[in-house]
Amino acid sequence: MAKSPRVCDYENSKYRSEFWEGQGREYEDQVERIALHRLMPPKGATLIEIGAGFGRLANEYKGYDKVVLFDYSRSLLREAQAHLGDDHRYLYVAGNFYQLPFVSGLFDTIVQVRSLHHASDPETLFQQVSRVARPKGHYILEYANKRNLKAILRYALMRQKWSPFELEPYEFLPVHFDFHPKWIDKQLKAYGFQNQASIPVSFFRIALLKRSIPLPWLVGLDGLMQHLGRLGLFSPSVFTCNRFKEEGVISKSDTFFACPQCATPIEDNDSLLVCSKCKTGWRKHDGLYDFKEPIAIEERRA
Ligand SMILES: C[S@@+](CC[C@H](N)C(=O)[O-])C[C@H]1O[C@@H](n2cnc3c(N)ncnc32)[C@H](O)[C@@H]1O
Repeated sequence: MAKSPRVCDYENSKYRSEFWEGQGREYEDQVERIALHRLMPPKGATLIEIGAGFGRLANEYKGYDKVVLFDYSRSLLREAQAHLGDDHRYLYVAGNFYQLPFVSGLFDTIVQVRSLHHASDPETLFQQVSRVARPKGHYILEYANKRNLKAILRYALMRQKWSPFELEPYEFLPVHFDFHPKWIDKQLKAYGFQNQASIPVSFFRIALLKRSIPLPWLVGLDGLMQHLGRLGLFSPSVFTCNRFKEEGVISKSDTFFACPQCATPIEDNDSLLVCSKCKTGWRKHDGLYDFKEPIAIEERRA
């Protein structure tokens, strides 16, 4: 059996309280929202955020009829659910981005921010994204840029061994990767996406600057630098807008979910979603669809 790609598991992590809330990252949060506004179509029928975490960016998707917050961590999705309340447009779906549990050609817009850096097998992820994208759909992808100014400087001063100019992804910590802009473009093209824009984001992610320059100035300046587009791709973070090819599957059926193991469409009419082909069962509990681990069908009767 093929080995499944390594995953960075945030189950029960304190990502919200220990990384964002009160941690001095208002600058990063605000400049990412500016980039998202710039690149993402404001309205549509279906949107998925892959690796949505606790739903930090969920209020940016208000123009969509149906929004899937997809993540490997059930606990972070529960946090999202707790603050988004009863808004029925949002669906909370736990699973692995290497096996997206959705029918093909479903999403108008796919957003991925701060989670590609956990992809130990980005090709499989991109293959899955291209499967669930509608023809001419948008994939708004953020990635950690290995060719950033700090890495270039450190390399020039011989303070770091790895070259920021080599195209291959660099694993700086276990299951944490930086990517080269040219490598990303090439991969996305191979999976049917055409790059429409790439913009540099978060140039001033430096504690001293954040402490000494007022937040609105720093955010405004970053917003201006984003206009550099491809010429400025030396920032630690890059946002891209990619359009899926015209040919491809258009999802016509009412079925939304598909078995993550064999891709057969699955009806959503019970607290247990069962794949008619491979007979695998998936739990739906308190509004959370759980495709992270299958459950034995017998459990249903227990
Ligand atoms: C750094 S957090 C970013 C969360 C959110 N996008 C944000 O910007 O606030 C990375 C997220 O990616 C999710 N993730 C990592 N590997 C995943 C995988 N294989 N499938 C689905 N989600 C994954 C983690 O559970 C975590 O919530």
